[in-house]
Order: sequence, then C-alpha cells, then structure tokens
Amino acid sequence: MLTANLAEHGRPSVPLGHPAINPQVFLGRAAVSKFSHEPQRDRLCVLVAAGLGFKKCYSIKRWQRRSVGVEQDVEAPVSKSFSTEDALPPRVDFNWEKQWYPILPEDMLRTSGPEPIRLLGRDLVLWKDSAGKWRCTDGICPHRLAPLAHGRVTSEGQLMCRFHGWTFNGDGSCVKVPMAEGDATAEAKLVGAACSKLRTYPTRSVKGLIFVWPHSESWDEASKKEPFVAEELAESPNWSVFDAPASWRVWLEQSWDPSHAPFLHQYALPNFAPELAYAMEPFEVEDLGDDGLSARHGGYMQSNKGMKAYRRFGPPCANSTSYVYPDGRTIGFNFYFVPTEPGKVRQITTSYFVPAPTDKGDDNGLSGNMMQMSKVVLKGRTVGGIDKERVSFASAVKSRIKKRWPKLDQIERGLKSWKLMQGLIGDQDNTILSFQDSVGLRAVQSGRFREPRSSQKFGGPPTEYLLETNADELVSRFDSWVAARGGGPFGFGREENQTGFSGVFDRWEAHTRFSKDAQAALAFLSGTADFLESRVVPACAVVAALCMTCGLTRISGLPTLAAAAGIFAKSRLRKHAQGFLSGLPPGPGLPLRKLWE
Ligand code: FES
Ligand SMILES: [Fe+2]
Repeated sequence: MLTANLAEHGRPSVPLGHPAINPQVFLGRAAVSKFSHEPQRDRLCVLVAAGLGFKKCYSIKRWQRRSVGVEQDVEAPVSKSFSTEDALPPRVDFNWEKQWYPILPEDMLRTSGPEPIRLLGRDLVLWKDSAGKWRCTDGICPHRLAPLAHGRVTSEGQLMCRFHGWTFNGDGSCVKVPMAEGDATAEAKLVGAACSKLRTYPTRSVKGLIFVWPHSESWDEASKKEPFVAEELAESPNWSVFDAPASWRVWLEQSWDPSHAPFLHQYALPNFAPELAYAMEPFEVEDLGDDGLSARHGGYMQSNKGMKAYRRFGPPCANSTSYVYPDGRTIGFNFYFVPTEPGKVRQITTSYFVPAPTDKGDDNGLSGNMMQMSKVVLKGRTVGGIDKERVSFASAVKSRIKKRWPKLDQIERGLKSWKLMQGLIGDQDNTILSFQDSVGLRAVQSGRFREPRSSQKFGGPPTEYLLETNADELVSRFDSWVAARGGGPFGFGREENQTGFSGVFDRWEAHTRFSKDAQAALAFLSGTADFLESRVVPACAVVAALCMTCGLTRISGLPTLAAAAGIFAKSRLRKHAQGFLSGLPPGPGLPLRKLWE
C-alpha cells in the first residue's frame, strides 16, 4: 500500500519489508501501536500481551538480565526515565549484536590491514586473509593484551601480533607461538588451543561498504540476514565517514527531526532561515516491527513547500531519506549512525540525485536539473557533485602524471575530503547534540532538571523530552520502538557521553586518523609549505638582494614578488593543512569556531 502510494508521488518504489506474522513481531507492533491513535486495536494488543504474561517483563532489571546484548553482566545505572515498571512497553526480543553494522568503505582500506575498529564498545580488527576475504577478529592479543591493530598480515595471509609474534589464521586460531618452538608442552597448551583463540565475526561487503556482525556465535543467522542498504544507491556510492562525539540515540533522533534545519542550520544551506519555517502537518508513520519504521511527511519551510519526504529507519542504525520535489526532482540521503561506543557514532553517509523529468524550475527559485548535490549540500558532508569529469587537455595531462606518480590520486581524493572537514552543518549538530547527551539527558535522568513524562499527544513510555507537536512525532515513535527493544545497543541510560564538547572540532579523531587519503593530502600540504618556507622564499630573497647589490634594480622586483607570493602560498597551505587536524581556525586570533552568522 505504502509502496503504491509512493510510486504515485513519483518516487521509485521501495520494498518496505513487512515483518512476517509471528508472536514476537506482533508484540513489537503492539508495543508501538499501544501509543498510536488506534484505541481498539491497542487495547486488544495490550490485553494479549498481558494475557501472555509479558507484564512481568516490564522490569528494567529483568530486561537487562534477559538481554543478550553487550555488557550484559554489568549492572548499569538505571535511567530514571524508565524506572517505572508499569510505564514500560512490552519487551520485544531484539538482539542488538545480531545485526549488520557498516564500519568502513572498502576503498578506504588500501592495504590488507589490520585496521582497528570500534563497534558496540569493543576493540576489533579488520584484515584480509590470503583468499582476499576480509576477516574481523578481536583486536586484543590473548598473550599480553597488545593491540593487534599494530600487528601485520604475513605473506601467508595470517595476522601476526607485533609484541611477540603470535600468529592467527582467519578462523582466529593461534597457529604459531615463536617462543614455544621446541617446547612441546607450551606448544600443546597454546597452538590451536581454545585459550589462545581470537573470536571472529562475520563480515559482508555490500555497495562498497564493509559490514560487521558483532556476534561471534551466530554465523548461520548472519548469512540469512541482509544488511540494510537503500536500493536506490549506485553499486559503489561515494561514501564519506566521520566520527561524531554524540550518541547513537541523539544522532538518530535528530535525523527524524527535520524541523530543526531552518533554525540550527540557518543560512548554512540555500533558503534555510528561521523566518521561513512553518509548523509541520502530521507525519504518517508505519511501524514495521523489527524492520524499523517508515514515515512520510511534507515540508517544513517555505523553500520546500510541496515537497514529499520519505524516511525509513532500517535497524540497527540506518536512516534512508528521500525528498521528492513538485517537479519530480529527488534528493536522497543514506545515513548510518554506527554505535562505536557509548556517546560516539561513526557517520557513514552518501547521497544521490534524480533529475526532474524535464528541465524546469520550481517555485523555490532553484532551477530543476541545474541543481546539483554539491550545491544542495554546500558545506555539508557530501563530497563531490554529480558531474561527469570532462575529458580535457588538463585532465589528460593529469592522468599521465598520475600514471607516473600514483600517490597523486590519493592526494587528490584527500584534498576533496577537505570539504568534509569544514562540515559546518555537522559542527552545528554536534555542538547541540553533545550537550543533549552529556548534560540535558543526564539532568532529567538524574531528576535534577525535571521528571520524565510521557507525551500527551503520542503516548509512549516516559521520556526526557517534551514531545507535543506534529514535528516531534517521529522522535517519539522512534524512542518507543527503541524502548520496546531494551533501550538501544547499549541499553537504557548507558549512552554516557564521555567526550563532552572537547571532541566536536577534533578533525584528526573524526576522520584523518583512519583516512589514508586525508593523511596523504595533509602530508602533501605540509611538505609543500615546508619547501616554500625553507627553500623557495629564502632563495628568492637572496636573488632579490643580489640584484639590488649589483645595481639590477629593474629586475629585482621579480624575485621580491616571488618571495612575497611564496609567503602567501605557504600560509594558505598551512591553513588548509590545519583543516585536517582541527575545525578551529589556526592562530593568530582566538581559537573559536564561528557556527552561526
Ligand atoms: S602480546 Fe601479542 S604476542 Fe605477546
Ligand atoms: Fe542537523
């Protein structure tokens, strides 16, 4: 039904993956529909749930004991907002570990690894075995707990620890302990033994992204489940990756809340302005059980009046959104907010653009097919436009140089990601979201600010927020969906943000640290600046001085000009290089990021 409706609106149809009818999913639907506007069915669902004895599952402590999620043996601080037993929705069994999480685009992994990754608070490594398959194993060596990320992949395609050379195969078994050679007892205890085995996790590569299933004992289940990827995406989309210092919960919530855009991101994009905002019409939300949520809504400011938006939450961490404009133009985004650790997400994003059937303008003043992604996301996270590269004389020369100097390709890609580093929109979001995480939510959960309460408009379990307008519906429905599934990947009240605000502008942590391209670009910029400073400028100054001394005053202007140009270029390059390390402006001057006009 929804597919048909969307097709009517000119959007490519999307299979919504309705859940199979089984008691678990039924209870999942009941949990959320309990708070919807369908009183009769709701009452029936609650009665069925109660009749089946699920009421006793309302206890948060019991939920945590039943949970097969991460850190299940740790007694977590119980969030006050969910501490009232009777207020909790019926629990749906949902294992946050038995899910596919994207972790990196394959083209960012240029060697065989090992590449360190964080997922659900764990340290893991990705590396390629001799068959060319990406392996994901524990990132801590069982011997003396060294980081396996500093190890190396041997010519046999095995992972060797850097500390004492213990070596592991693709199944995680220890195949070599150099210091045990000739000592049969030690070898018998360690080589191929359970105590020295690394846990291994299923991996998949879909649309250029490597996905990891962070549960080591359900390989069969993993093979039967597909990672969530929007089907409109090209085979190898242009993914960008950015680690953000705010939690999975608040980042996903903000992605269900378009009404913040004209306020928080005022003037960062064309026509984003508070004075252009208007109250939203009600959303149409559909609960897809364990397959997430889908929603349709209209515009929220004058510039996108008449636009139809479609949003889909694909568990465990995807938001697939498309905006269909009155002229048929479609702009789509695929976001993943990967819960790397409490209080941090890895954002993996891409976007696509479908031109209008005819090249006509629309009433928001932007010319139909002339509008490109690079203009839509001016200072945002999407790198590159949709233009095909023209074969010109310059590009022919460039490709010849690249053949001789392959590093140039990497530098070029890194320089393109500089735009990503400027991420004004991301900085605006992170500034607000990290406060929500580390201050706002804590203040309500601890009772210091106010008591949690249920939304009077949408129902649902008690929440820290005040959700009473149409624009708040998707946040409310998402929170209810998550509450019915144990409170998210880390459980209730465990998404402690340990970064605070200090990490918001840290570009090294957020991107350059794991991007070989960005590192190559940074080295190129710094190296060129050094060369200008130490060689070119002094040489030009010497030539200028010699000219003056020899009375060649008429030509002394040239080297003087070259020295001045060198000084200017050097300072520009340094400023550019700084962008790969920090979002704060380099000195002189105050290290303050200007977020708003
Ligand atoms: S810590 Fe890894 S081999 Fe010793
Ligand atoms: Fe935002």
